[in-house]
Amino acid sequence: MNEPGRPTSHSRVTLSRIMTAVDVNLYGTVHGGVLMKFVDDVAGAAAARHSGGTAVTAAIDEIVFVEPVRVGDLVHAYAQVNWTGSSSMEVGVKVVAERWDVVSPEPLTVATAYLVFVAVDVAGHPRSVPPVLPEDVEDERRFREALIRREHRLSRRAAIQRARAETRAEARGEAHAEEEKPE
Ligand SMILES: CC(C)(COP(=O)(O)OP(=O)(O)OC[C@H]1O[C@@H](n2cnc3c(N)ncnc32)[C@H](O)[C@@H]1OP(=O)(O)O)[C@@H](O)C(=O)NCCC(=O)NCCS
Repeated sequence: MNEPGRPTSHSRVTLSRIMTAVDVNLYGTVHGGVLMKFVDDVAGAAAARHSGGTAVTAAIDEIVFVEPVRVGDLVHAYAQVNWTGSSSMEVGVKVVAERWDVVSPEPLTVATAYLVFVAVDVAGHPRSVPPVLPEDVEDERRFREALIRREHRLSRRAAIQRARAETRAEARGEAHAEEEKPE
């Protein structure tokens, strides 16, 4: 894809809803899984908008629940594409709540998350995405931090694969030594 790129604002998305009694866990606050779906939905909308088509969740890198959400709270999720690779995108999400029973000058941050989406074609194969163009210093900071997360993710995956290969090689070596033992 030879597109010049799309500014961050092109794909910024906000999703809002009021939490209800069906969203609660056994403790009476909103279930983490409900918030995770909300986060995935808003991030997916941002990724689809940026890439101009279907994008699937490849990984949820980090989700942090900062404050409990309660029934009646008006919750807003903000998503933007922080970084783009060849076919993948990191989407950052911030979730804030307006308490139904408290007047507060600032909404409360209740969760943050980073997700990796991959743009796919009709066959489900990765397709290229236009680069994201950060528009201000905050977008540039998010771009740099997303790159750090990607490097950590890749090096962690490589380290785990090496460790697994070593474990398998050790297991094979032990089995081989067992076979060679005299009766
Ligand atoms: C995501 C998926 C399309 C990747 O396919 P793949 O053939 O493994 O892709 P590749 O190895 O060629 O990698 C493609 C890109 O995805 C990235 N990627 C793949 N797996 C990833 C992972 N687990 N975490 C982060 N990035 C990942 C690669 O880094 C690469 O990025 P780049 O093109 O920007 O460099 C495939 O694994 C898939 O379909 N997964 C299921 C998705 C799904 O069902 N999600 C839930 C419902 S939406």
